[in-house]
Amino acid sequence: MNVLVAKTANDAERIAYTLIKERISGKHDFVLGLATGSTPVGMYQMFKQDALDCSHVTSVNLDEYIGLSPEHPQSYHRFMKERLFDEVPFKQSHLPQGDAPDPQAEAARYEDLVRNLGVDLQLLGIGENGHIAFNEPGTALDAKTHVTELTESTREANRRFFDRLEDVPTHAITMGLDTIMNAREIVLVATGERKAEAVQHMIESVPTVDWPATILQAHPGVTVVLDGAAASRCAESLQARGQEAATRFFTIRD
Ligand code: F6R
Repeated sequence: MNVLVAKTANDAERIAYTLIKERISGKHDFVLGLATGSTPVGMYQMFKQDALDCSHVTSVNLDEYIGLSPEHPQSYHRFMKERLFDEVPFKQSHLPQGDAPDPQAEAARYEDLVRNLGVDLQLLGIGENGHIAFNEPGTALDAKTHVTELTESTREANRRFFDRLEDVPTHAITMGLDTIMNAREIVLVATGERKAEAVQHMIESVPTVDWPATILQAHPGVTVVLDGAAASRCAESLQARGQEAATRFFTIRD
């Protein structure tokens, strides 16, 4: 796990964006795993500002709420369309279908699709409870794409996108931990003090189902990009581990 600590959230986003841009540029074909939520929004803005050529890139998103159609204003389909796809054309884009009549069958279909495509690079955020995608605490470490019940803390954290808490769906289809671990490379971005405890566990705890992101320690190609606030609870251990990159702060200029 290579850990980079940037000075500001914007710097962290620019580091992650630059890494992704480097990976997809000049390739003939690329499969990019994407996330929703607040964390990637600044990066998607950078894709747009740069008019990054993604015409050879197939995207696969991590998850979708069950019960929301692709047109629903709070669906992740709409989120991706409005934040990225409307302005940056991709070769093809895939998300689980939240209003599929049989969510279990849809999860199995999506797992096959993602496995067959083979993800070159997966972008991740992290939940305050340590979830990645919607693999909530307690999820089996070998989970494939599945239907999951969202924890109250996750619904509460995502309430800001909805009018009322009751409107936040209770279930989602999510790539599993094993699906994510199958990506060739993973870039996880975490910013803000709210993420500091989850980040500390991800980096310092022995892998445990209680903090799902700890599984990333077992992946050979993970880059974690943090701002100072998200790294605040593990600065000492990063230095002790001799993570050269983590002992200094990066400042990125446009
Ligand atoms: C989003 C996803 C989630 C988020 C996480 C952090 O597709 O799978 O795991 O990455 O909940 O959300 P934000 O970025 O809103 O703090």
